[in-house]
Amino acid sequence: MENKQIAIAQFGGPEVLIIQSTEVPNPQKGQVLVKIAFAGVNPIDVKTRAGLGWAASQNEDKLPWVPGYDISGEVVKCGESAERFEVGDKVAGFVGFPLHGGGYSQYLCVPEAELSLIPDATTLEAAAALPLAGQTAVQALDKAGVHEGQRVLILAGAGGVGHLAIQVAIAAKAEVFTTCSAENLDYMATLGAHAVNYEFSPVSERVEEADVLIDLIGGDAALDALHCLRDGAKVVTVPTITAELICEKAKMLGFDAAGMLVAPDPEQLDALLYMVSVGLLKTEIQHIYPMSEVVKAHQQIETGHTRGKILLDMQC
Ligand SMILES: NC(=O)c1ccc[n+]([C@@H]2O[C@H](COP(=O)([O-])OP(=O)(O)OC[C@H]3O[C@@H](n4cnc5c(N)ncnc54)[C@H](OP(=O)(O)O)[C@@H]3O)[C@@H](O)[C@H]2O)c1
Repeated sequence: MENKQIAIAQFGGPEVLIIQSTEVPNPQKGQVLVKIAFAGVNPIDVKTRAGLGWAASQNEDKLPWVPGYDISGEVVKCGESAERFEVGDKVAGFVGFPLHGGGYSQYLCVPEAELSLIPDATTLEAAAALPLAGQTAVQALDKAGVHEGQRVLILAGAGGVGHLAIQVAIAAKAEVFTTCSAENLDYMATLGAHAVNYEFSPVSERVEEADVLIDLIGGDAALDALHCLRDGAKVVTVPTITAELICEKAKMLGFDAAGMLVAPDPEQLDALLYMVSVGLLKTEIQHIYPMSEVVKAHQQIETGHTRGKILLDMQC
């Protein structure tokens, strides 16, 4: 049996992604072997492939390197003393973050503690859409202390993190404002957010007295959004590249500001999978590409205009 994997052969454009064939690995003590059904694609995968960021610098001597942190699939073998799962269980995980990756594989050995059981009512597709983006959404809202009755501004509500953050904030009974292009105005309304078309006017002209800013865009859009906040507001800026700049400016204006780096937390993923299973959270999946079309999947993320998530079907 072979294990096809998508690997970064060298840093560069999407065409540097290759499909390589390796042996199916054997689970070690405490690990299970997962036959991966779907792998989620995230902006960090694309940045690492381009040679940018920490995961790229730490792995530059290890190319070809297999990216991917979001997986869903089925347990096909249990290693010694791995007792949480049985063969046949459906599982999802936020794995190998940030240095090891490995999610763009057909088979992967994962420490069982890093996995969550997928409830029957949650699809494998939804489960692969949730790990990195869903936990970023929850951790950003937690960091800002979002609670009932607050006015929360979430920049880029239509993206992978944004569409989940809106729903979690609304579930916490916050009033949510967001930014998107004309194409996503209706979609944002279906999630229950007040949407501002950023192509039409700067958000600072449309939203005021927000208690919290969750910035998923960075740069000039985030600097403009600081003018939507009330005194003492909290700012969480998620894109790492401009985090220092945004925090500095936000603090000068008297706000409580912080960047963040998402951390895998299987219990948090359990909660998100449960929310999907009972209809409290809906994942938006713009497209599922077969693994052979990973180049197109990366090109789609690079447009910067993906609605919800992009997945790879690892078995076709
Ligand atoms: N620090 C961390 O731990 C961490 C974790 C996760 C993600 N991130 C970073 O957070 C950012 C968001 O991640 P993501 O997965 O949500 O990205 P994504 O899915 O690629 O975001 C795409 C979305 O951005 C929207 N967008 C593009 N330009 C916009 C603008 N000027 N104003 C408002 N919306 C705009 C698009 O909506 P329209 O098509 O309507 O324009 C699209 O729906 C990325 O930079 C990512 O690298 C950081």
